[in-house]
Amino acid sequence: MATMLNTTRLTIRNFQAKDLDALHEMIVQYQTSAMAAYDQPWPTSREALQGVVAWFAGGDAYLAVHLKDTDQFIGFVALSPEPDENRRSFNIGYVFDAGFHGKGYATEACRALLHHAFDTLQADSVVSGTAAVNAPSRRLLEKLGFKKTGEVTVSFRTGEDGNPIEFTGYDYILSKADWSNASCSPD
Ligand SMILES: CC(C)(COP(=O)(O)OP(=O)(O)OC[C@H]1O[C@@H](n2cnc3c(N)ncnc32)[C@H](O)[C@@H]1OP(=O)(O)O)[C@@H](O)C(=O)NCCC(=O)NCCS
Repeated sequence: MATMLNTTRLTIRNFQAKDLDALHEMIVQYQTSAMAAYDQPWPTSREALQGVVAWFAGGDAYLAVHLKDTDQFIGFVALSPEPDENRRSFNIGYVFDAGFHGKGYATEACRALLHHAFDTLQADSVVSGTAAVNAPSRRLLEKLGFKKTGEVTVSFRTGEDGNPIEFTGYDYILSKADWSNASCSPD
């Protein structure tokens, strides 16, 4: 099933092979940023990312975000089903090109994705997690109405000394009821 979401400034759609170079550039940039230590490592070679784009393009979980005006790729959002048989829950994720931070694009794209999750996919809840030190990501989730449910110690990578890089992660949830309340109130 193809997914295409439109907002005032953005189109959010399934990945296509032509998104490879822009995704590659963004991932290389992200992997050298300070926040990369607090996320799963990404492959950075063009060849490996070609496989990633093909996999993204074959499903509806990872969606490319483009500026409507110029068709410029600016990042992606992701909505992955949670392995919980009793609830219809999804995990939301996002990475945006640093050149397009601080303009409200991530908020706009995630709001559209949450509408899609609750209205079309009939989600009961959407969850997410982020590092406590990732202030932009925490601000984004809290602005969208997510509530913090707990703190965990996480490690995705090892440091140069061979020891795991441990950090505090915050878990978040957005219930359908909280989303309905948040999406009815002004920003
Ligand atoms: C997390 C991430 C997506 C947040 O991006 P962001 O640019 O802060 O978020 P937005 O695009 O929604 O922009 C919001 C900011 O734009 C400002 N803004 C400017 N113009 C705006 C507009 N027209 N509408 C809304 N906000 C606007 C807001 O005031 C806000 O500023 P603030 O951060 O000072 O509060 C980004 O930092 C990122 O991609 N990081 C790397 C990947 C990552 O860490 N992912 C999470 C892993 S768990």
